[in-house]
Amino acid sequence: MTTADRRPRVLSGIQPTSDSFHLGNYLGALRQWVALQETADAFYCVVDLHAITVEHEPKALRERSRVSAAQLLALGLDPDRSTLFVQSQVPEHPMLEWILGCETGFGEASRMTQFKDKSAKQERTTVGLFTYPVLQAADILLYQTDRVPVGEDQRQHLELTRDLAIRFNGAYGRTFNVPEPFIVSETATIKDLTEPEKKMSKSSSGPRGCLYLLDTPNQMRKKIRSAVTDSGSEVRYDPESKAGVSNLLTIYSALTGTPVEKIESEYHGKGYGDFKGDLADLVADSLEPIAKTTKEYLADTAELDRILAKGAEKARSVASRTVAKAYKKVGFYPPVSM
Ligand code: TRP
Repeated sequence: MTTADRRPRVLSGIQPTSDSFHLGNYLGALRQWVALQETADAFYCVVDLHAITVEHEPKALRERSRVSAAQLLALGLDPDRSTLFVQSQVPEHPMLEWILGCETGFGEASRMTQFKDKSAKQERTTVGLFTYPVLQAADILLYQTDRVPVGEDQRQHLELTRDLAIRFNGAYGRTFNVPEPFIVSETATIKDLTEPEKKMSKSSSGPRGCLYLLDTPNQMRKKIRSAVTDSGSEVRYDPESKAGVSNLLTIYSALTGTPVEKIESEYHGKGYGDFKGDLADLVADSLEPIAKTTKEYLADTAELDRILAKGAEKARSVASRTVAKAYKKVGFYPPVSM
């Protein structure tokens, strides 16, 4: 076994449900994806199968998958070191999902809080939305994953994944590695710019609340300058009573690596205006290169699609082995190679 083989296997996924990732995705998760390439054998998946669990537009979906992948590359995911792929190009995902679905209790799936939240918001809830967590378990178990870097909101889905792995292994003999969650720390949770009590998300508030990586530098500056700050004028970290300023301090700190206390003392005696002005420039300058590189990738979609096809092949070489094992265990005919 080479050293490379002993690196922990990491897998994570992100839905291609918007035209651009936002600052919260970047600082909360994607930056860590990039960093993990140094120490892990990382698999990153644009989960377009999950994206059709709610209403979608076919043309927009394919485009968003492409833009998502381009942004991940622009952020620094290196397709030679990590495996970057689009879920729909790896048919093993729904193959394993079926088997795992037949191991999942109806009551067990009914307890998923994300399903309850999401279905409450839909006019029409589908079986696909119900089995979303089972597909997510397949995503993870296919790659014999050791660690899954995700946010706190995914903890319950990871518990289900572990339960399914343990249950299947118990019933049929060791087939899946049992993954550990790797919950991204609280400090990196970026809040909405206009409603700082909520997590930043494309759906949370108005267009000013969410800062997209593909915004123009001017849009970014405006959003930061018009971010809600609190009464008072002191640049001080206090998420309870100064949620707005605290969120901006978190962003500043995350982008520069400067501890919050140091930023506080730098702005001691200065007002919100100075701080926001500097942060506006910092955000625009830090994110502009990402947007530029994203556009370069999108200017040559043939090359981008080649990179993704290669990623899917690499993913399939691992996933197909797991599916072959699981098929054998449950008594199916072996899959024929495609
Ligand atoms: N459900 C995850 C989210 O909304 C996305 C996801 C799908 C995922 N498959 C995954 C995350 C596998 C980690 C691993 O954020």
